[in-house]
Amino acid sequence: MNMKPDKNKVVIFDTTLRDGEQSPGASMTLEEKLRIAAMLEELGVDVIEAGFPYASKGDFEAVQSIAKQLKNTTVCGLARATRGDIERAAEALKPSDNRRIHTFISTSPLHMKHKLKMEPNDVHQAVIDSVTYARSFTDNVEWSCEDATRSDHDFLCCCIESAIDAGAGTINIPDTVGYTLPMEFSKLISILFERVPNIDKAIVSVHCHNDLGLAVANSLAAVDAGARQVECTVNGLGERAGNAAMEEIVMALRTRGDILPLTTGANTEMITRASHLVSTITGFVVQPNKAIVGANAFAHEAGIHQDGMLKHAGTYEIMTPESVGLTQSKLVLGKHSGRHAFIEKLKEMGFDLGDNAFQEVFTRFKELADRKKDIFEEDIIALVDDQVARGDQRIKFVSLQVICGSTGPQKATLELEIDGEVKSAEATGDGPVDATFQAIRKLFPHEATLQLYQVHAVTKGTDAQAEVTVRLEEKGKSVNGQGADVDTMVASARAYVKALNKLIVKREKSAPAALSA
Ligand code: KIV
Ligand code: ZN
Repeated sequence: MNMKPDKNKVVIFDTTLRDGEQSPGASMTLEEKLRIAAMLEELGVDVIEAGFPYASKGDFEAVQSIAKQLKNTTVCGLARATRGDIERAAEALKPSDNRRIHTFISTSPLHMKHKLKMEPNDVHQAVIDSVTYARSFTDNVEWSCEDATRSDHDFLCCCIESAIDAGAGTINIPDTVGYTLPMEFSKLISILFERVPNIDKAIVSVHCHNDLGLAVANSLAAVDAGARQVECTVNGLGERAGNAAMEEIVMALRTRGDILPLTTGANTEMITRASHLVSTITGFVVQPNKAIVGANAFAHEAGIHQDGMLKHAGTYEIMTPESVGLTQSKLVLGKHSGRHAFIEKLKEMGFDLGDNAFQEVFTRFKELADRKKDIFEEDIIALVDDQVARGDQRIKFVSLQVICGSTGPQKATLELEIDGEVKSAEATGDGPVDATFQAIRKLFPHEATLQLYQVHAVTKGTDAQAEVTVRLEEKGKSVNGQGADVDTMVASARAYVKALNKLIVKREKSAPAALSA
């Protein structure tokens, strides 16, 4: 159903799984998309754009599975202005009672001439035809005028009026190339309210890219001018410089209600967990000074600031760490904690694992507790992430010994279980990581190249777990694998093996190259 515009509510439309996934290297498996979708639903976003069903079989399956999984959140599928795209989106969205088709076409002279090779009149007709056709499948239709910020205003107003007449309940104004400035964008939104006669029958939405670092500022300027839906992604993930960051939009609205007295349905305490999940799955690290979710976002280093904070937190803190779900690293369990205490802790942290996954995580927890003095919530999250991301694996990590140091060559002795059989190999390399990865190559020969190798410490201290991300690429397809362990080399081997398993699944599902919007 088309949502009735609520003057005081800003609809949060999350496109991490569609526009975010279009970032080179950020591709996700179906299982990972389902985890992110579940997290976003818990976070209370209103609409999840789950993919572009016509673009690839994988996107179709993702939209369909997410449509089956979600209970309250509206699920949206993207479609160009063609019957084929719209039919595919409608088919994928069928399992959901809360579905939206989002159809788009470019309206700027540059895009119409060079990309679409269409005359403006034909584009206008395509707007009417595509929205009308999409409405034959659902009464929740969103229409976007791609490259709106470089479009002629008269033409834009005319297309928007026709899209609303044809039944679009949401009109999205994308700044596709991140070109606009806040004052210009707010003026554009005001022009639409003044000149499109039926604009009150739709929700005006904005979708800003971050090429000039202004995606969030532009989105908020548009909200100030009357827009009531913002399209955004977790951590600002997205092509080139990314999209408007969901956490920044939501927290700006929560923190500055004095200037923008509007609400969102977001449960902001989930923000830190969502950010961590998206970053771990995609391998896109969050810069330490990133607003809201960066490691330093709530850290006060300067003495004068610390002094002020001790006297009154409000002196240097405009929002509390707790409001974004950031808690002091909590010492949770120790080596004597039993099964029951561990189950209770997982429940309290919102994890619901099946029996097999629980047993594996519990075994890893006991091993970790033997090697690490203090176990924090972050350690448990890393263990669960590591386990849940595992799925069905043809290759399993068994053991690793590495000899390293200033006199080489560094040597790795590795055991892997491949298709149920334990095999071992030794390899030397330029450093312990190289030796470890060479040993994997010996046991399971493959052509993939290493695109990314990244390590970060889960908590403070020299006995902290290392969380490693490995990105492999083969024939234009890339996959990410993550691994966690107190031993960085073991975490590296686990991450590589996980990426390799995903690559095998991708090879099996191999399909023609995907489209992107
Ligand atoms: O940036 C853009 O214009 C888009 C549209 C498909 C909404 O992503
Ligand atoms: Zn976009």
